Amino acid sequence: MIRVEKATKNYQSGKVKVRALDNVSLEVKKGEFVVLSGPSGSGKSTMLNVVGCLTRITEGRLWLADQEVSHFPDHFLAAVRREKIGFIFQQFNLLSGYSTWENVSFPLLPLGISEKERRIRAMKLLEELNLETRADFMANELSGGEQQRAAIARALINDPGIILADEPLSNIDMGHIRMVSDLLGELKKRGKTILVSSHELQTPMASLLDRTVYFDSGKILVP
Ligand SMILES: Nc1ncnc2c1ncn2[C@@H]1O[C@H](COP(=O)(O)OP(=O)(O)OP(=O)(O)O)[C@@H](O)[C@H]1O
Ligand SMILES: [Mg+2]
Repeated sequence: MIRVEKATKNYQSGKVKVRALDNVSLEVKKGEFVVLSGPSGSGKSTMLNVVGCLTRITEGRLWLADQEVSHFPDHFLAAVRREKIGFIFQQFNLLSGYSTWENVSFPLLPLGISEKERRIRAMKLLEELNLETRADFMANELSGGEQQRAAIARALINDPGIILADEPLSNIDMGHIRMVSDLLGELKKRGKTILVSSHELQTPMASLLDRTVYFDSGKILVP
């Protein structure tokens, strides 16, 4: 389902060159729930961004759903991202000038779905995430944990086969950690492939996992 082969990702920031991923390979099967763990700066978010087609690897190859996408031009990559991937960002990336439900429904815009239908679908997910009372709030009026859950709803609205989540349990309280974990578990039951980064393994999620992959300095540690 997801296959990363000998991937290296270099970033150049001014004069400083960072090797965020250093010749890493990873395979995740359909329906697997895998956690990327490791210290800050070890390459977890970079790996998610690569798999999510948000950034390109410098060297190596990437397959999604049995299709090699590493050499796709940008507009094809954008289409792959839109159709196959739900991304829950570490920084949420909600648009502050829009309401919660509008933010959640944005991925449906390119599909030409009516506003009425977009609102119905957004409300259904917001209810699942206990956010329906915030549907008409502007995104900047939400608390950190509420923004996190809105970002989760937005990632799921397209019903993607692959769900990528960057630290989905940070910024939320114990009750909502349970809720988000249960939701991820439910998505796994529905056959979704889930790749999540986490500094530390939170117990509610641990029971759902198939395996943990440890990163250190851009490399995957072999158990
Ligand atoms: N856009 C960028 N430009 C330059 N360097 C970057 C960029 N993004 C990440 N890096 C660098 O790549 C390395 C890996 O970063 P990454 O965000 O993947 O780490 P992480 O494991 O997700 O860390 P954290 O747990 O703090 O989120 C870091 O040294 C970081 O400074
Ligand atoms: Mg990160």
